[in-house]
Amino acid sequence: MTPPADSHTPILPHPTELDRQDPLARYRDEFVIDDPDLIYLDGNSLGRLPKRTVARMREVVEHEWGARLIRGWNEGWFTAPQRIGGKIAQLIGAAADEVLVGDSTSVDLFKLIMAALHARPGRTKVVTDDLNFPSDLYVMQGAVKLAGPNYQLQITHSADGITANDDALSKAIDADTALVALTHTAFKSGFVYDMGAVTEMAHRAGALMLWDLCHSVGALPLALDDHRADLAVGCTYKYLNGGPGSPAFLFVRRDLQEWLVNPVWGWFGQKGQFDFALNYQPARGMTRMLTGTPSILSLAAIEPAIDLMLEARVERLRAKSVEQTEYLIALWEQWLKPLGVTLNSPRDASCRGSHVSLGHPEGLRIDRALIEDMRVIPDFRYPDNIRLGIAPLYTRFADIYEGMSRLRRVITERLYEKYSIERPEVT
Ligand SMILES: Cc1ncc(COP(=O)(O)O)c(C=O)c1O
Repeated sequence: MTPPADSHTPILPHPTELDRQDPLARYRDEFVIDDPDLIYLDGNSLGRLPKRTVARMREVVEHEWGARLIRGWNEGWFTAPQRIGGKIAQLIGAAADEVLVGDSTSVDLFKLIMAALHARPGRTKVVTDDLNFPSDLYVMQGAVKLAGPNYQLQITHSADGITANDDALSKAIDADTALVALTHTAFKSGFVYDMGAVTEMAHRAGALMLWDLCHSVGALPLALDDHRADLAVGCTYKYLNGGPGSPAFLFVRRDLQEWLVNPVWGWFGQKGQFDFALNYQPARGMTRMLTGTPSILSLAAIEPAIDLMLEARVERLRAKSVEQTEYLIALWEQWLKPLGVTLNSPRDASCRGSHVSLGHPEGLRIDRALIEDMRVIPDFRYPDNIRLGIAPLYTRFADIYEGMSRLRRVITERLYEKYSIERPEVT
């Protein structure tokens, strides 16, 4: 497994040597690795299962639910959204009382968008761009429709489909703008926005700024409070390894909390919930953003995974992730670029997250051949992106080397040709 070199190409370091020098290598043992030959490059869609989570799930099911029953609510369940939110806060540069866990990213986004529109009366525009995740666009479309006929969503366009169009954004954000909402690391290209600069752009126009952190949290250090970001949401099933459908988190900067109105009033957001008063009165601080009973089993699965991430430290994870995406891109340059594969992610690591998208007109069929014949799991994003996610807690340099070498084989030997162009239900 030595990377090849000819007289024109630089010699790349040996992957096993890189793994040997990796200060985070031991964290791979923290995860369930069911099939050592499977190259899993999809931790940016669904992270692997931490071994600690298996033990925690057994405890919460057998002991807390099985034995403690309803008493569990006073033994840690009731405060789980705040407690786990406080841990996520450490990953995103926020204070413990600015983050809550519960609901899905889409639902949290809806709550915060409606709250933002309500908090900026007279302003009727939401600004976003076409690098944003479609669910976010759907939520925004629904929110402006509900807000009333004067409201509109303005979607600016990226010039290359990879990076943000700062000029278009700055033109769109004006005195009519209530909210600017963007996904911090773009889901297809992995482009990372300059959080400070864009937040300032929104604030200069008097608008609120909301960041979707789904592809950023756990992959790179974030500084929401330092950048004076107003609102944020993010999921926990990607780099945070919280499990399929694990609850999302929402962030509201402390000074905004008392005057933002949750659009979905429910008893978990009520002041003095167990007084059972007949009229709604919002609880203090972030708790008012809750609605109904939290998913305790799913919340329990997130906590050990987040503890693991805090222990590994996100700055170290970012350093490894940059080294690994650089390594992947160097392999692309030597092996795949000559075969017509394009780099659909930024070349500059400072504005690239922890996944890399490679483009090929046969991307969908190549993706299928990788999964079904080659034991490599990436994912596919329309129209041609083979998206390779690096989760530095457990991805090895050897996985990247081997995954790229199998990808090269699929293309050179045209192994994808036996697959139909029909898209499976989930890609
Ligand atoms: C950037 C981004 N935003 C929002 C979502 C939607 O999340 P949910 O299905 O938890 O609502 C996703 C899902 O992958 C995503 O990647």
